[in-house]
Amino acid sequence: MTLEVRQRLVAAAREAMARSHSPYSHFRVGAALLGADGRVFTGTNVENASYGLSICAERTAVFKAVSEGCRDFVAAAVATDTDRPTPPCGACRQVLQEFAPGLVIHLAGRGGDVETFRLSELLPRPFDNFTPGEAL
Ligand code: THU
Repeated sequence: MTLEVRQRLVAAAREAMARSHSPYSHFRVGAALLGADGRVFTGTNVENASYGLSICAERTAVFKAVSEGCRDFVAAAVATDTDRPTPPCGACRQVLQEFAPGLVIHLAGRGGDVETFRLSELLPRPFDNFTPGEAL
């Protein structure tokens, strides 16, 4: 992963964050996903007056990408308007795991520091091999 690619992803995540619809939490998040085919998919959090219907930025990006025919991801960036970089929630980690267990995730807050993790560090021992009937 070159520095240039990382910067491009963080910039795309920050642009997506600027489009956040978060009038309830006022917590703005942007995500950018780099597909193995070179395409970049962005997402932001979209909240609703019925709070539980809200969706996180990371899942918006994944669902956009899969809907556009990309389901193999190399890297992601998540931008938040916070002093420190903020890792994705558990639900988003699980959704990312479905498509990109080897994903590299760059986290950026307001400042210049970017923290980088593998999804496997953020979601150790994932639930990823469900076989119908096996749990019975
Ligand atoms: N949020 C995200 O977009 N991604 C996360 O990983 C954590 C939380 C959003 C959901 C909600 O709109 C706001 O941040 C506060 O939880």
